[in-house]
Amino acid sequence: MTTVIDGKQVAASVIDAVKTASQALKDQTGVKTGLAVVIVGDDPASHAYVSAKSRMAKECGFTSVQHTLPEETTQEELAALVQTLNRDDNLHGILVQLPLPKHLNSEPIIQSILPEKDVDGLHVVNAGRLATGDLDGGLVSCTPAGAMVFVKRTHGADLSGLNAVVIGRSNLFGKPMAQLLLAANATVTIAHSRTKDLAAVCRNADILVAAVGRPEMVKAGWVKPGATVIDVGINRIAAPERGEGKSRLVGDVAFDECAEVAAVITPVPGGVGPMTIAMLMANTVIAAYRKAGKTAPKF
Ligand code: GUN
Repeated sequence: MTTVIDGKQVAASVIDAVKTASQALKDQTGVKTGLAVVIVGDDPASHAYVSAKSRMAKECGFTSVQHTLPEETTQEELAALVQTLNRDDNLHGILVQLPLPKHLNSEPIIQSILPEKDVDGLHVVNAGRLATGDLDGGLVSCTPAGAMVFVKRTHGADLSGLNAVVIGRSNLFGKPMAQLLLAANATVTIAHSRTKDLAAVCRNADILVAAVGRPEMVKAGWVKPGATVIDVGINRIAAPERGEGKSRLVGDVAFDECAEVAAVITPVPGGVGPMTIAMLMANTVIAAYRKAGKTAPKF
């Protein structure tokens, strides 16, 4: 029997743990965890994500601050806002929603966030801590951290002897995912668009993680029987069977056929997606514990 991971359920359990942790911090120190979310421009999808993040922060008992800036905001204005948020002791996490409008340069903005408030895990200091195996000192990017919760709940904390293949080499996901798997003792391969015989590389994986942005690219013949398959892709494709002009979301994995070969698999939607917000909340409460000089909880 294949196990289909219920990402909503796992995310809810992480959120429960975050609520408990934030309440305990408040009881012990009087500190209320705070998250600032910044969005620039009018992209509807980004607004939907940001609203969900702000709402969830409130639900976790955090101070939740949202800055909604107009499309024509300048680089200097955005940089000044980040400096203000950096200096605010009531805010433990800062997230600048990406992508920014085209006239803005996101990299200097992200790198100007204090590393200890960089709950997105995108600052080079946090990327560097992860790369050196310092998982307790920095903050880990939310989507790989969420995917790793699934891996650990399936295989335990020690992946010794297991082969893991990550398809995709982005800074946002592929590289940090590979680092997390490596830190857990997996034997890790990062595959990408230039990899020769990708199917054969993937068939070697006990843990296969797909993050390429190509709808249903991973086929049943790529999956080792009994493998764990984590699908990080979110692709909108036409669905004429649902009516004219309709679409639906699919992952990077051809779910139905791969589910027949895998032992454990994540669906899209309802897999890794819900974990991203949950891990953002986890990172924020971790940052608040550290600021208060307390040992941070693990999620
Ligand atoms: N846009 C889409 N996903 C993310 C994310 O995880 N963090 C930020 N900052 N922007 C995003």
